Amino acid sequence: MPLVRLDDLLRHARAHRYAVGAYDAVDAHFIDAILAGAEAAQAPVIISFAESHYAHYDPALLFAAARDAARRAAVPVAIFLDHGASLEAAVAAIRWGANGVMVDASHLPDAENVATTRAVVDMAHALDIPVEGELGYVPGVEGEDAQRHAGALRLTSPEEAKDFVAATGVDFLAVSVGTVHGRLRGAPRLDLERLAAIAEAVSLPLVIHGGTGLLDTQFHALIERGVAKINYYTALADAAAQAAQGELVAGRPWTSALDAARAAIRKEVERTSRVFGAAGRAQAVREACRPWRELEHLILFNWSETASGREAEFEEEGRRALLAVPGVREVDIGEALHENARYRRAWFIRLASPAAEAAYMRDARHLDYADRIFRPHAADRLKIDYIRR
Ligand code: 13P
Repeated sequence: MPLVRLDDLLRHARAHRYAVGAYDAVDAHFIDAILAGAEAAQAPVIISFAESHYAHYDPALLFAAARDAARRAAVPVAIFLDHGASLEAAVAAIRWGANGVMVDASHLPDAENVATTRAVVDMAHALDIPVEGELGYVPGVEGEDAQRHAGALRLTSPEEAKDFVAATGVDFLAVSVGTVHGRLRGAPRLDLERLAAIAEAVSLPLVIHGGTGLLDTQFHALIERGVAKINYYTALADAAAQAAQGELVAGRPWTSALDAARAAIRKEVERTSRVFGAAGRAQAVREACRPWRELEHLILFNWSETASGREAEFEEEGRRALLAVPGVREVDIGEALHENARYRRAWFIRLASPAAEAAYMRDARHLDYADRIFRPHAADRLKIDYIRR
């Protein structure tokens, strides 16, 4: 099944009163296991990458792996930047393959949170990519994901939520109603009345961070009140660690530990997909949600005499300038294999979406390169845009 649009997916979830699991992946085994768990449940799924985890892997590599795995998956998938810290982080994640982004400025004063989030929305919406914002603060308690979320709990107020959504234009809102990141100490207490009031005040899909440790009945109560996306990580990491440790302590090889970790993650993703009500929805989502489409912008061309001796320099400058444009995913230059080719060169430019192509055509960096170098020195050219199936 193809990648699907995250806005369609979460609207479908909210309308049909279920939630999609957004599972943070930290290596290729997680990607594999998250998809296998979702496939076992026939559930749509979101593979997330949290910027705070980038210290542990090469994000460009893992986003690419997720994109490739998602294309082959038997369930609808979205790829998401979780807790990005800046506009630049959102641009980079979109370049690597995200079709939804969160920029988390919830620890900043409200005015800064609004300004940062608004800037991300302006950039991402021009590419047709939806944005999650967070208002209130979901802290950490202990365990795998807790130390990345230092600070005190601040609950989301319904009135502020309404203003925040209007001021930023976010598509989904992460709320703080008592969950914490990481492992919980004792029984979690959720402010469900507050959640209901937030859902009343804003009609968009709500998001819960800190899914680990909640009771099944609590998940149901959250979903009943408008939650359509549940972020879940620490329980997967703990299950993987425990399974791997069992193998290693027994003296079995590293590959057995990896297999055991994958199986444990897969089981937890399948279980939670059922708890969230996402199980069995894959086909309905596929019918209701638009697939995510990338665009290939191809230019076949010949350098003119005026470029003689400077071709490589012009090509390198073009690659650098065009790759910096938000929504551009890859820029490659090709040279014809055969001497008699009608066109000797090709630019292959992969864009995140058809909207990204429109934004690219207006972008100052692209226009500068086109006006100053490409058009004057490559008059003989052919341009084609293809939607990737
Ligand atoms: P947990 O690690 O508590 O499941 O939280 C994950 C999360 O909210 C990531 O954004």
